[in-house]
Amino acid sequence: MDDPRSYSTKVRAYYHRRAPEYDDWWLGEGLYAPVPDKWADERDHLLEEIAALEPKRTLDAACGTGFVTLHLPGEIIGLDQSDAMVAVAAKRVKDARFVVGDALDLPFEDGSFERVFASHFYGHLEEADRLKFLAEARRVAPELVIVDSATQGGVERNEWQDRVLKDGSQWRVYKRFFSTSTLLAELDGGETIHSGRWFVAARSPRYVRSGRDEIPLARHAPA
Ligand SMILES: C[S@@+](CC[C@H](N)C(=O)[O-])C[C@H]1O[C@@H](n2cnc3c(N)ncnc32)[C@H](O)[C@@H]1O
Repeated sequence: MDDPRSYSTKVRAYYHRRAPEYDDWWLGEGLYAPVPDKWADERDHLLEEIAALEPKRTLDAACGTGFVTLHLPGEIIGLDQSDAMVAVAAKRVKDARFVVGDALDLPFEDGSFERVFASHFYGHLEEADRLKFLAEARRVAPELVIVDSATQGGVERNEWQDRVLKDGSQWRVYKRFFSTSTLLAELDGGETIHSGRWFVAARSPRYVRSGRDEIPLARHAPA
């Protein structure tokens, strides 16, 4: 049972409460209006890049309202800790399956998927949880795709943000902003899918092919 005072429990409660207004952030509406400069163009471009990934059996970890899930190619299972988020996602993405669960303790067997995808989740994880999530993602799939927030003005930031919801409730949320090089280093290598003003995205296979062998990515020396 989670300690109700712990950061991770509070962040889960925050997103659960935020479910009905979460899409405002993607859309630049409500508390997030007006839409920031070039945000909508870059968002749509990012969604096209995600849609162009090779179709795979994919777990969308911390899928939220399914705003991004809708664009994932292949057989899709979305997971989120909040049943309110999952309810919105299931209405939106009819041909995917959704489960309520913990992305840090995935309720799936080893190798159940071909890809784990996570958008705007990784950057909310403090170090111990970040490592837990990476271990879980690598356990259930040979490929990991991370989408998150880009550095603003080239400055990497890890910070505690004070946030409010429409009902006036106040929350503290841990949030990171990434360069693609930091993200790729943390994933032990891979390739950049998107590098923009607002978003970064990287794809990291667990193994790379070298001749006839598959080598763990971190041990693979560049040619
Ligand atoms: C910023 S939202 C991202 C939602 C979606 N991936 C997107 O990009 O629109 C973060 C999501 O992580 C979920 N979340 C937080 N901790 C979680 C955990 N341990 N396991 C599963 N989901 C979690 C929240 O409920 C929320 O839906």
